Order: sequence, then structure tokens, then C-alpha cells
Amino acid sequence: MKAGIIGYGSMGKMLLWKFSEAGHLGREELFVSNRTAGKLDEVKDIAEIGTNREVASSSDIVFVCVRPADLKAVLEEIKDSVEPGSLVVSLNGSVSFDTIHQIIGGKTAKVIPSLTAEIGRSQTLVCFDDRVDEEKKAELRELLSTFGNVIELPENEMGMGSELVSCMPGFIASIFDVICTSAKKHTSIPDDQIVRMVLQTMSATGDLMLQKDMTFEDVVTRVATKGGITEEGTKVVYERFPETADLLFGKTLEKRRQTARQNG
Ligand SMILES: NC(=O)c1ccc[n+]([C@@H]2O[C@H](COP(=O)([O-])OP(=O)(O)OC[C@H]3O[C@@H](n4cnc5c(N)ncnc54)[C@H](OP(=O)(O)O)[C@@H]3O)[C@@H](O)[C@H]2O)c1
Repeated sequence: MKAGIIGYGSMGKMLLWKFSEAGHLGREELFVSNRTAGKLDEVKDIAEIGTNREVASSSDIVFVCVRPADLKAVLEEIKDSVEPGSLVVSLNGSVSFDTIHQIIGGKTAKVIPSLTAEIGRSQTLVCFDDRVDEEKKAELRELLSTFGNVIELPENEMGMGSELVSCMPGFIASIFDVICTSAKKHTSIPDDQIVRMVLQTMSATGDLMLQKDMTFEDVVTRVATKGGITEEGTKVVYERFPETADLLFGKTLEKRRQTARQNG
């Protein structure tokens, strides 16, 4: 199996290095191109460097890792180079299969990894158009599983799915940034120690819930005893935070629709 990466930015770089480090794909099976060719000097020992068309024609699976505004131009450029039977994968969730198929005719998929791929714990979303056979689906799933779990969703759920796994590290980080900033006003514990204490507790709470199959309510009930101190805090969250969460998803989903309209 040969894999190609077009666009060596944040996502393309992550995919290329993860595929290489996993050891399944050697230098002869990995292809890469980028608009600014100089950025590819660092990968000359792990991948074949080429033009977008060369990468497309050499690969069984071609990952197009460019921003939505550049996607159509790249698809136009490579459409005659993709081998029949090869799979073209867009890393963008907002550009529809309908739009992609107006340019490129063959098998296509969409893939959304999350930042946690960096530590092999991505929750990677994938969706396939109805031209993709089981064999090709299995090939792509196997490649993606080198850096975490793979979750298949229908196309209409890729937007909200992306909010839940790809955007979520940003949401989680910003929420806990606010909490740590507030905590700093009430203590002389050093800032970096506050952050480490909260992060370790956050990470362990997630693991606890997953390992013991606990719900959020289970955790709240176990910690926030009736009339106790924790309950004072959880009451504030349940009273005040729903409005913020609704606003957050309202804004992000609107931005997603706007991106789809601009690039559709
Ligand atoms: N970042 C995330 O966490 C994340 C997560 C999931 C999905 N995505 C999606 O993944 C896609 C890529 O995002 P990104 O964050 O990786 O973007 P990025 O860091 O801006 O990288 C885009 C890359 O595409 C290259 N490029 C642009 N036009 C090109 C062309 N015509 N031919 C070849 N290469 C070209 C750019 O080259 P230059 O070096 O010349 O700029 C750059 O290296 C987007 O659709 C994004 O929505 C991102």
C-alpha cells in the first residue's frame, strides 16, 4: 500500500510522521508534496518528495491536507493523475462529497483527526462516499488506527462530530484555562503547579470514568455530597454553564455552515 500526503502543514506533517513511525510504510511507500517545497527538506529520508500530481499518481490513498480555500484548486490539479481505484481523502469536514465529486470522480473519503494523535490517542472521524468498497475502507481504517481510535460517521454528522473530537481539545483547554486563572486569585500555590494539579485531575477523571464505566452524574454524586462544599461549586456550573455551552456550539456550527457555503 502506498500513501500520499498533499500539503505538509499541521495535519499533513502529523500524518506523514505517524505513518512513518508506525513502521508500516517505508520511504518507497510514502509520498509528499507541499506548496512551499523547502519545508520538505526534513522528510527526505522518510518519504519521496514530488509534485502534487506525482504524489496523486503514485498513491493508493491520497490525503489532501490543505485548507478549505485551497482544496478545490488542488483537486482540479490532481484529478487526471489519480489512478482509478485509488482513494482521495479530504481532511476537511465542511466541504461536501457533492462539491468534491463535481471535480473528482472516483472514490473519496473525509478524515478528521484530533490533536491527541500526537500521543497515539486520536479519536479520528472518517466517512466514506458510497463508491468506496470494504477493502479500501479497511485499508484506510488500518492506516488511521496507527494513531488512535477510528470512528465512522455519516456525512451529515461530520460537523458536530468534529466539534466533539477535533475541536474539543481546544474547548477543554480554554475552559480549564479560565478555571486555573480564577483559581490563581485565591491561592499562593505557584501557577505551574496549579495547572499540573488540574490537568492530572482532569486526565485521571476521564480515565476513571472510562475504566469504571461511570457517567458524569456518577462522578458528581460521588464527590458533591448533599449540603457539602463541592455541591456549592457544581450548582454554579449547572446553573450558569449551559448558556455558555449552547452559545459555543451555536457559534462553531454557524462558522462551519459559513465555511461550507464559501467553499461549496
Ligand atoms: N489543525 C487541525 O487541528 C485540524 C484538525 C482536523 C482537520 N483539519 C483540517 O485539515 C486541513 C489542513 O489543515 P492544517 O491545519 O494542516 O492547515 P495548515 O497547517 O495551514 O497546512 C496547509 C498546508 O497546505 C499547503 N498547501 C496549500 N496550498 C497548496 C497547494 N496548492 N499544493 C500543495 N500544498 C499546498 C500549505 O503549504 P505552505 O507551506 O506553502 O503554506 C500548508 O503546508 C484543513 O482543511 C483543516 O480544516 C485541521
